[in-house]
Amino acid sequence: MDKMKEQALFDRMKTEGQEQILRFWSELSDEQKDSLARQIDGIDFQMIRVSMQQKNLVLESVITPLHTVTTEEQKEEEEKDRAIGEEIIRQGKVAALVLAGGQGSRLGYDGPKGTLKVGITQDLYLFGILISNMVSNMEKALSKRPLHFLVMTSDQNHEATIRFFEEKAYFGYPKEYIHFFRQDMAPALSHEGKILMEEKDRISLAPNGNGGWFTSMQRCGLLEQLKKDGVEWINVFSVDNVLQNIADPVFLGAASSRGVYAGSKVIAKVNPDERVGAICYRNGRPSVVEYSELTEEMRNAIDQDGHYLYNFGVTLNYIFHLKETEEAAKSQLPIHRANKKIACIDEKGDRVRPAEPNAFKLEYFIFDILEAFDDVLSLECIREDEFAPIKNKEGVDSLETARALLVKKTGRPL
Ligand code: UTP
Repeated sequence: MDKMKEQALFDRMKTEGQEQILRFWSELSDEQKDSLARQIDGIDFQMIRVSMQQKNLVLESVITPLHTVTTEEQKEEEEKDRAIGEEIIRQGKVAALVLAGGQGSRLGYDGPKGTLKVGITQDLYLFGILISNMVSNMEKALSKRPLHFLVMTSDQNHEATIRFFEEKAYFGYPKEYIHFFRQDMAPALSHEGKILMEEKDRISLAPNGNGGWFTSMQRCGLLEQLKKDGVEWINVFSVDNVLQNIADPVFLGAASSRGVYAGSKVIAKVNPDERVGAICYRNGRPSVVEYSELTEEMRNAIDQDGHYLYNFGVTLNYIFHLKETEEAAKSQLPIHRANKKIACIDEKGDRVRPAEPNAFKLEYFIFDILEAFDDVLSLECIREDEFAPIKNKEGVDSLETARALLVKKTGRPL
């Protein structure tokens, strides 16, 4: 690297208050220097600045209830909305996007979560199930053209994910309609806001949260490609729900006929204490309130008909109108800081394995973008039909519970 470039790098880190990144510069080989410079180029310093300046998100919020269209209320509209949605599918105006950049730490599975085998005797994997759930809706709509299927990965699982799709021959889906893109990464920060180093030439990085999907998709040119191909809606969902209803025509039709540009599928909570995020208004804007944010009083609050005010939990299945979302994505999303134990090196270059949380992991959350929309459709779906997530190694929301729910719904052994 030439001296001018090197000086510019040092100056920039000084301005950002992050000189420690270059602490071991003189010990690095030319190759390591280039690699570190590239990592620095990829850092969103704005995200770091905002995260250290923003006030406590939770304390600032006033939470109020947002109406959910229940299955009962939807009944009369259902056929009409289905017809509208099926037309959207036939015209290829909707794309699917699976959020597969997470680390799946609770599950502790070695490999991208989507490669998890759900079948017992059959060759059934999470990614394959998601594709077949989408194809099922395409077939019911008598659609002749494939829908675009986007897979958001992270630096940590990108290659392994692509290899898996290749090995499985893309689950029989036309390969040119499956698109992989990496989400952006964010550095881990010390409690003082300093970027941590994993090695002398390596910044400690983690995926920047599932709310990073839109900007990452835009940056890699996929947004333009979708728009050119006439796509108007995008269905964004988590990788780990085996009953995920993808490109659901009723959901699409209901949003479209009501003239709203964003929607969330929700389920009635089993009881007020179920640990799921609930749809709500936050400071008058559509949002999601996390379980930990709801006081006991709010969890048990009821309306005049005796219904819980925060009864509907999000299933991580959203639809967004692309054009409106492009506008919405121009505003800065809040940054969530999770206090974690993150291994790193200290100022001497020695490895530190903290016993207590020592650093913030920075994440954008998908539901925060809802606040940019004046109106969001919260549509109830039946839990047994659409919600069987795999989050934990065992117990609730595990592979075992998801398998049981899948067998119950399809009536077929796995
Ligand atoms: P979760 O919040 O369940 O996180 O993600 P996770 O990484 O899968 O699991 P834990 O919390 O570490 O155990 C919900 C969805 O968002 C995706 C996940 O892949 C999952 O589909 N996600 C999460 C991303 O795509 N990127 C992220 O940075 C985080």
